[in-house]
Amino acid sequence: MHNIFEATPENISKAAQTIQNGGLVAFPTDTVYGLGADVYNPAAVAGIFAAKGRPSFDPLISHIAEIDFLPEYAETDSRVMDLARHFWPGPLTFVLNRKDKNHALDLVCSGLPKIAVRMPNSPVALELIKKSGTPIAAPSANKFKSISPTTAHHVLNSLGEKVDMILDGGRCQIGVETTIIDLTTTEIVMLRAGGLSKEELETYTGEKVAISHGDPNKPSAPGQLLKHYAPSHTLRINVTEPKDNEFYIGFGNVPNAHLNLSPNGDLREAAANLFAYLRFADQQNNFQGIAVSPIPENDLGLAINDRIRRASYLE
Ligand code: TXA
Ligand code: MG
Repeated sequence: MHNIFEATPENISKAAQTIQNGGLVAFPTDTVYGLGADVYNPAAVAGIFAAKGRPSFDPLISHIAEIDFLPEYAETDSRVMDLARHFWPGPLTFVLNRKDKNHALDLVCSGLPKIAVRMPNSPVALELIKKSGTPIAAPSANKFKSISPTTAHHVLNSLGEKVDMILDGGRCQIGVETTIIDLTTTEIVMLRAGGLSKEELETYTGEKVAISHGDPNKPSAPGQLLKHYAPSHTLRINVTEPKDNEFYIGFGNVPNAHLNLSPNGDLREAAANLFAYLRFADQQNNFQGIAVSPIPENDLGLAINDRIRRASYLE
């Protein structure tokens, strides 16, 4: 027996009850699977940090199901609401100033005056949030620093019985986490490259989007730990000539690759395959390492390169 449940309406209702009772539910989103709890229940939120083995100074994203809810929760202006209407539901997270001084949110925000909010483009996630009657705090549903899950079985393998319920909604379409932007300053600052490209944001806003690399030693700067998404094998990036003992993950026309993220060089397809392929490569015990082809640094290549760079980091 395991705790994976197909995402039927009945099971989503059961999962919503679990959230209301302070439990932990893993659920699919458009990007990766999240490990969810009621944002207003600090004991439940503490359970997320414990299950992941994540330090509590790394804040969580709150997931909402209706745009109209945003102003109750965070400081908004016409720019924020316009971006929300255009890009939500979708792979974009906003960092905003907190409005609700409810101390129940302190742990979710790691005591910061800012809050990260998103609306996922996944019918299962949206139904779960609505039925729970509360925003859901959710990091990716994997052990701290390891590879993010894009299927229910990835969650089971990483967190197992630490989760009360895993809702199975199939494979996540986008496959890399959200793009995170800080909207508390005049300029839009990208804190994490992700499922929405910088180009799309710039085209829509007509503004240049700045990139923050944060302070890698202070994880309150989001997702900026140098070592993250780490496989147990060593991983080399930008490889055109793999060693004999390396599992080779290709991109584009790479005939000697063991697996290819996208033989046609499609960055969206590559993003969707990335984490599952890294996991698979890491399980191949007859290889001593993983090598990845060069990936272009545009569109979703920004997010892919960010993830594999961190995965390749040697402590
Ligand atoms: O695609 C996603 O964003 C997934 C799905 C489940 O929604 N979630 C996700 O969460 O990737 P997580 O916790 O793995 O990464 C969220 C990042 C963290 O690196 C955290 O530091 C940053 O968001 N973050 C959260 N709240 C913040 C805040 N108030 N200020 C700055 N950064 C924040
Ligand atoms: Mg994560």
